Amino acid sequence: MFGVGLRREHYPYLTEKPITDIDWFEVISENYMNTEGRPISVLESIRKDYPITCHGVGMSLGSSNEIDPNYLKDLKALIDRLDPFLVSDHLAWNHWNGIKLHELIPVPYHEESLKIIANHIDYVQNELQRQIAVENISAYFNYTTSTMNESEFLSLLVQQTGCSILLDINNIYVNAKNFHFNPVDFIKTIPKESIAQVHLAGFTDMGTYLFDTHAEPVHQEVWNLFETSLELIPENIPIMIEWDENVPEFHKLEAELNKARQIMNKRDKNETRKITKPVL
Ligand SMILES: [Fe+2]
Repeated sequence: MFGVGLRREHYPYLTEKPITDIDWFEVISENYMNTEGRPISVLESIRKDYPITCHGVGMSLGSSNEIDPNYLKDLKALIDRLDPFLVSDHLAWNHWNGIKLHELIPVPYHEESLKIIANHIDYVQNELQRQIAVENISAYFNYTTSTMNESEFLSLLVQQTGCSILLDINNIYVNAKNFHFNPVDFIKTIPKESIAQVHLAGFTDMGTYLFDTHAEPVHQEVWNLFETSLELIPENIPIMIEWDENVPEFHKLEAELNKARQIMNKRDKNETRKITKPVL
């Protein structure tokens, strides 16, 4: 139930096959697609001991161009090789007319983009022959043409395509601060049963805005939002910590993940109290 992002800084430690507090790993799909060599051989060795998820950054679901069939072919080959329990990407675009950007760019939230992205998700799910999870992103600008917000847009995508949602609590907090909305209202809008995974990560406070850097521990405000939102997310779903810059030693990552465990355990105890109350 509790995972972390697999990063190359931890390969030497993990290849020693230590006993860890980690239940599963999330891997960035593009780092292992259409490649041979040390990274994929380390991953295959880890895969023998842990379940994994494939998390992509290059599908570009939000582009007005078609999804690249070669990209999907490579992703399908990786999925066949690793048998992940979840495949995900973002509600964003980063490819357009041959231009590739190394950022996840938000989309405008309106009927026209909804139709395009729903078609893309249908196509991807058909090609991969499986459901995908779509993640809410952190953004630093929005579009005056949007007629709805990101959570309403994601909910419509779930209705129209049967995709699931990868809910990033840190992204919601960052956007809520930068764009001044209530983060709990955002989570309330997402159909609970559609949430397939949760991301937690650290942002950097830039003074005038919050920046989703994944370079710090999870901030207390994000832990608080996670705890406040527990009733709005399903029980027993995979929860993971993303840490991409200033990657700490593995034990620090495990300690961070154990904070999530403690919060979930607290919920389970409360649930037990709720259930036993009528009997008493
Ligand atoms: Fe995320």
